Amino acid sequence: MQSSFTNLTFCIRTFGCQMNKHDSERIAGMFEGLGALQVDTIEEADIVAFMTCCVREAADTRLYGQVASLKNVPLRTDSPLRKRIVAVGGCIGQRDGEKLTKELDHLDVVFGTHNLGSLPHLVMAAIEEGGHHVEVLDAASSFPTELPTSREHDWAAWLPITIGCNNFCSYCIVPYVRGREKSRPLEDIVAEAERYVAAGVKEITLLGQNVNSYGRDLYGAPRFAQVLDALDGTGIERLRFATSHPKDLTDEVIGKFATLRSLMPALHLPVQSGSDAVLAAMNRRYTRAHYLELVRKLRDVVPDIALSTDIIVGFPGETAKDFENTYRLVDEVGYHQVFTFIYSKREGTPAASMEDTTPRETIQERFDRLVDLVQARAFEANQADVGAIVEVLVEGASKRDAGLLAGKSPKNQTVHAPVPVGKTASELAGTIVPVRINEAKTWYLAGEVVNDR
Ligand code: SAH
Ligand code: SF4
Ligand code: F3S
Repeated sequence: MQSSFTNLTFCIRTFGCQMNKHDSERIAGMFEGLGALQVDTIEEADIVAFMTCCVREAADTRLYGQVASLKNVPLRTDSPLRKRIVAVGGCIGQRDGEKLTKELDHLDVVFGTHNLGSLPHLVMAAIEEGGHHVEVLDAASSFPTELPTSREHDWAAWLPITIGCNNFCSYCIVPYVRGREKSRPLEDIVAEAERYVAAGVKEITLLGQNVNSYGRDLYGAPRFAQVLDALDGTGIERLRFATSHPKDLTDEVIGKFATLRSLMPALHLPVQSGSDAVLAAMNRRYTRAHYLELVRKLRDVVPDIALSTDIIVGFPGETAKDFENTYRLVDEVGYHQVFTFIYSKREGTPAASMEDTTPRETIQERFDRLVDLVQARAFEANQADVGAIVEVLVEGASKRDAGLLAGKSPKNQTVHAPVPVGKTASELAGTIVPVRINEAKTWYLAGEVVNDR
């Protein structure tokens, strides 16, 4: 009887946001620490964990289908187990709990967003005893900082500074599946960052559903600007953060883009809609004018800051005029990137009971028009860098062409350049190289590594 993780293989399938991606790294860290080996494919894996997302409906249906189809994938012939262990965690695990095992009877383990640390013992119980093992908690008792991580890249790290969300935007399920906002003590954040810097990490991305309200629960007032100061002080090369709620983005934080060496000139600032009526119905608690004022202030501080955003098209009651306001806002701001979503009704949220009469085709037309504009404006925004030399943090070879390096500019644009003669993409991965840009496309820049330095 198998009673340890040695000789077992595991694979994690991750959906949704960076919170889930980071949680997956923690799970990998735990399993590896116990002696299991991470593999890429489900065929090779004795244990499969799904880290799920339910922010929109499409993700939901896909998960049920994927878990169901696992039934037909045979276990590797030399597995110490008699049956593959299938675990579902993340936001669908948190929301559906026990119900998942009723619909998917070959599911062994269900866990939630507040108890990642329980996964190894739930899996072991399933191996030793068989049957379903479900554990979902209502809230985290503490910030899960003590768990180890196994990061995807040696040179980049995600660092959660808050978990959960208190904003209750009327369309959004996140506060229900991630719980109330909890901040992590500043000294823990700094200690983790210092460990990363000492280990050679080049880029840290601070994570939270709304990083701007960091510290409100712990210190009585937001302290996000102080987090940025402290992180810059660790000597980290590149610092980024996501996500920022416009209602809480302060002048103090905006000013940090000018004063902090490590803070990269790129900001994701979700607007969701350009119509005040829709913003109010969404419970976003800012106006179009306030948002545009933030954009103006950011550009006063860093004229070429790269802005990105999220937009929901087809929120209940969105009129043609509301949509035009969104369209005009996107045109006015000139984003480098926009993530566009069609509104998806989430049971249990206030918007689920709002009347929604706009025909599906009208919403699709609005969506398509917006996507065209987004692409045209992104293409234009990238032209500003043609001729410039940008510092690129190399990620490795391009997926499309092994002869090309792929990496990220300070503005978070993808950059491609031929691998310099005498070098390989893998030895350059994790280093920062200067690239002269000679072409700008909608979603990437192309150029050549400058080696005269
Ligand atoms: N906390 C972050 C991200 C939350 S989820 C923030 O506030 O920006 C990421 C994005 O998914 C949101 O910004 C929103 O644009 C989109 N989203 C959330 N709920 C949605 C829904 N019910 N339908 C469509 N898009 C949704
Ligand atoms: Fe959802 Fe709004 Fe919280 Fe973002 S801020 S996670 S959109 S409730
Ligand atoms: Fe999805 Fe959960 Fe993130 S619902 S967007 S994985 S917080």
